[in-house]
Amino acid sequence: MTDSVPSGYRLDGKLALVTGGGRGIGRMITRGLLDQGARVVISSRKQADLDATVAELSSRGDVSAFVADLSTEQGVQNLAAHVQGLSDTLHVLVNNAGANWGAGIDDFPASAWDRVLSVNVKGVFGLTQALLPQLRAASTDDDPARVINIGSIDGLRAPAPGINNFSYSASKAGVHMVTQHLATTLAPRILVNAIAPGPFETKMTEVLMKNGREALESHVPLRRIGRPADISGTVEFLTGPGSTYITGAILPLDGGIVARPVDPRDRSRPGLHGPGPVLRPSRGTEPSQARGHDGGGRPGSTLCPSRLRARQRRADGIDCLRDQLTPGSEVEPDVARHSPHRRSPRC
Ligand SMILES: NC(=O)c1ccc[n+]([C@@H]2O[C@H](COP(=O)([O-])OP(=O)(O)OC[C@H]3O[C@@H](n4cnc5c(N)ncnc54)[C@H](OP(=O)(O)O)[C@@H]3O)[C@@H](O)[C@H]2O)c1
Repeated sequence: MTDSVPSGYRLDGKLALVTGGGRGIGRMITRGLLDQGARVVISSRKQADLDATVAELSSRGDVSAFVADLSTEQGVQNLAAHVQGLSDTLHVLVNNAGANWGAGIDDFPASAWDRVLSVNVKGVFGLTQALLPQLRAASTDDDPARVINIGSIDGLRAPAPGINNFSYSASKAGVHMVTQHLATTLAPRILVNAIAPGPFETKMTEVLMKNGREALESHVPLRRIGRPADISGTVEFLTGPGSTYITGAILPLDGGIVARPVDPRDRSRPGLHGPGPVLRPSRGTEPSQARGHDGGGRPGSTLCPSRLRARQRRADGIDCLRDQLTPGSEVEPDVARHSPHRRSPRC
């Protein structure tokens, strides 16, 4: 046992698997792992995304791809068999692949539960289970193997009213619980933790970013969208020697969104899918006075009319976004196309 954490920790000689590594957050994570020296396998359903990512990142290190649909048991087994064929040991498994579905409460289809839960929850458990022999073989007392599941802040608290991603939010709460359950089951040989991201710019959040990035950023306490270094740095920590006493943790990576105080009078809450409180005058004040809790002001502070108008415009933008997100939004385009509930993304 060492007394201090070595700096500049590297993953040379170690194998990592990143599901959904062909684009978005998975690609950000893959790039970080390659920069640390790991050999990385990425997987998803679309060969084209995988090929593009391998071509883009192979100058950074040893990256290869395997096509698998993780919503099916066969896909999970095929990917596990592929990894087993490459190596007897797997040091890092990042369960990142995820799907979403949006539709109003009256129309939300049963199939959207199967589709989302199969990959987001069942796939996470199944792949981890299938790769246990390789994860166990990679573990040492000082350096256990790591499983990192990508949850969401939408699994930490209910998204705002009107954000109709029912199976997604439930699935992400499921990811967090699977993380804790596996962590206690697989201790002490394998560490299992989850990252719960807030907004990052990816295909999943395409509509949101295109139509209201500024409004969304204004509701993040740190006033910005997540950057690639935010996620790769968190994964670096969770794969390195500084985190060997951490398992079963759900780490929000959200610029402070879930830490924000909730005003029960607000009809929405800040979040990835339902940005912040709606501006309105606080009780007993003139319309030009408002609680300064959505834009960085102090509670109860008095706003000048121009600031109030600016805040109202942001709040309006957020309401508009909420409407846009209602059905078929934050859904992969191919799902949205086939959703009978899809709406025009116009306010
Ligand atoms: N972006 C955000 O703001 C945000 C916030 C919180 C959490 N997250 C989570 O972060 C993870 C990555 O999402 P992202 O934002 O990067 O979105 P994304 O660009 O849509 O990436 C999703 C990835 O999952 C793969 N995938 C989807 N269904 C799959 C299936 N059945 N089998 C295998 N792979 C599948 C996709 O590839 P194929 O389509 O080719 O299969 C893609 O590579 C997800 O778990 C998501 O829930 C994202």
